[in-house]
Amino acid sequence: MQAAAKEQMPYIMLDDDECEARIVAAKQALGERLVILGHHYQRDEVFRHADYSGDSLKLSREAAHSKAEFIVFCGVHFMAEVADILSRPDQIAILPDLSAGCSMADMANLAKVEHAWQELAQVLDPDETVTPVTYINSAADLKAFCGAHGGIVCTSTNAQHVLGWSFRQREKVLFFPDQHLGRNTGFKMDIPLDEMVVWDYDKPMGGLSKEDIHKAKIILWKGFCSVHQMFQPEHIDRFKDKFPEGKVISHPECSFEVCQKSDYVGSTEYIIKTIRDSEPGTRWLVGTELNLVNRLHDECKADGKSVHFMSPTVCMCSTMFRIDPQHLLWTLENLLDGSPVNQIKVPEKEARLARTALERMLEVSP
Ligand code: 13P
Ligand code: SF4
Repeated sequence: MQAAAKEQMPYIMLDDDECEARIVAAKQALGERLVILGHHYQRDEVFRHADYSGDSLKLSREAAHSKAEFIVFCGVHFMAEVADILSRPDQIAILPDLSAGCSMADMANLAKVEHAWQELAQVLDPDETVTPVTYINSAADLKAFCGAHGGIVCTSTNAQHVLGWSFRQREKVLFFPDQHLGRNTGFKMDIPLDEMVVWDYDKPMGGLSKEDIHKAKIILWKGFCSVHQMFQPEHIDRFKDKFPEGKVISHPECSFEVCQKSDYVGSTEYIIKTIRDSEPGTRWLVGTELNLVNRLHDECKADGKSVHFMSPTVCMCSTMFRIDPQHLLWTLENLLDGSPVNQIKVPEKEARLARTALERMLEVSP
């Protein structure tokens, strides 16, 4: 019989130092039965315990290949869902704090996407003419929707390959939930801005006319990341005025204007690699989450590189921040006791269709 789980409350009171020592001990005791995956936006006190770190694509691959019995995902809810979908049925995916969601992912839901699909059907036959593409930052049922409708998942790393595949299937794309990743990628593929329209899910027919829909190559969901929308083109102008030789690098969840003014645009993994590989002494302005930028700043000091955060105000991903050492320790000590807590389990029918869309993505990814 499974032991009763340890309660969470006493853990909340522990200080970080005590957590640190007990996390190390629990990891050692669990050995190869456990793998901890950590997204780059995790705070240092958690990030340092990750066996593998990465962007969404890299971590999905780690989850798919891991042999460990327990996959503890220090990231947000959709990432743990992907780990569950891509891992073996006997593996257990765990999210240390169930309230660690993604506010952008929440901007699209199945009811609204199905409604949009029905409304599009008044103008064209979506199953013949539209490939649905969901950013990995979305719930499992939206990935399943894409799986069921000949669609696919993308991440910030492979969005261009995925869109290329999508246009080989059908002439148009419905892209959700992040309008910015969709627009920035489409523009890089030479799709004019006026052929990328925004679907406002709060308005009938997305607020679009029949002509808009017929003309569009990409129909962009009106979603965005509240962290990345804080970065503004003026921040780049001010930096360039002061440091004309400085380089600007941004995540594609930033606005079109910010990405256009940036020297480089790419995923979190790409940002880290580009700055690490740059010449000693290079100065960088970085448009992505603060924990990652602070870590890069500290790491690159030794090479005389300066790494600046793009916004003058602090903008962290508050949901990524919910994963703290206390929650991590609580999940690990419960695993040691044989009573897993916070397991993320996607219902089988949904998981099967979502896996189809994820596997299409993994096949076309570089
Ligand atoms: P990456 O896949 O680039 O790490 O992005 C994930 C994310 O949520 C960025 O906000
Ligand atoms: Fe979601 Fe934005 Fe946080 Fe990424 S940074 S997990 S997109 S809210």
